[in-house]
Amino acid sequence: MTARIDMLRLHDLEPTIEEFREAVVAGLGSTPKTLPCKFFYDAEGSRLFDAICELPEYYPTRTELAILRRHAGEMADEIGPDAGIVEFGSGAGIKIRLLLAALERPAAYVPVDISREHMLAAAQDLAAEFPGLRIAPVCADYTRTFALPALPGAHPQSMVGFFPGSTIGNFAPSEAVAFLARARRLLGRNALMLVGSDLPKDRETLEAAYDDAAGVTAAFNRNLLVRMQRELAAELDIDGFRHEARWCPVQRRVEMHLVSLSRQEIRVAGHRFAFERGETIHTENSHKYSLPEFRALAGRSGWLPARCWTDPEERFAVHLLRSG
Ligand code: AVI
Repeated sequence: MTARIDMLRLHDLEPTIEEFREAVVAGLGSTPKTLPCKFFYDAEGSRLFDAICELPEYYPTRTELAILRRHAGEMADEIGPDAGIVEFGSGAGIKIRLLLAALERPAAYVPVDISREHMLAAAQDLAAEFPGLRIAPVCADYTRTFALPALPGAHPQSMVGFFPGSTIGNFAPSEAVAFLARARRLLGRNALMLVGSDLPKDRETLEAAYDDAAGVTAAFNRNLLVRMQRELAAELDIDGFRHEARWCPVQRRVEMHLVSLSRQEIRVAGHRFAFERGETIHTENSHKYSLPEFRALAGRSGWLPARCWTDPEERFAVHLLRSG
């Protein structure tokens, strides 16, 4: 039997230039100045993010992969046979391969992503490797409400959400709770959810992970300014801003900022935004939850924390949640 791919375009919510312009005007017009991190991921930003995942300082990707390699069999035992997997944001597909390979007769795989071409290419590769698996990609923004596609011919015994990479940490805690609650409603009764989440650790390790020696994360952050110049014809001095990563122990998050090196102005979309020297644009938060903090967060969204796997140094965790 060959794998079947059904392309479903429920919503096509890839951010438009208009949305980017509105977000820039609103973000630079607010105090303190901000820009939403979802705009990092144009083609160049996605390429830079893939490069970040390979950096010696950026431990989350390789640590989570090691956890999956070591414990995928136990995860599969908890999940059981004939499961339908829904992946929220369907990256390069290495992590899902480890899970699918460990599962007994996975019934269906539903990647959900706003980047249609990237998702389709990855789904096609997976289809060749997992014959018999029903694959139904959904082009949608998983941070908004969407419906699961019908899976004719597949009869999943349970639905399992898969959200690796610690992307949960890029939401504010209240947004993370809302996302998990929506996922629970989407997946229905007797559902499970596997979520990768980075753990708090010493400042030095965290700040190095978000400010690497090769400057890749700095380029990733400054790519927002490059996009503003290219897509919005913004008048700004890219070299007039430096990248900064700060561990904020009270909020339990790494913040990324673009720091203005002088008094200057950004002119964009008919607006002028003045910067003092040292003033910043706050571009990303990456929350780090301890094991009990994450369990409490999951509990607030209605999930029951069931198990969790970490690496021996407790740098990263993969949590298994049950809908109850
Ligand atoms: C996608 N996300 C989980 C990354 C993180 O670690 O917060 C994004 C990133 N930002 C800088 N480096 C990586």
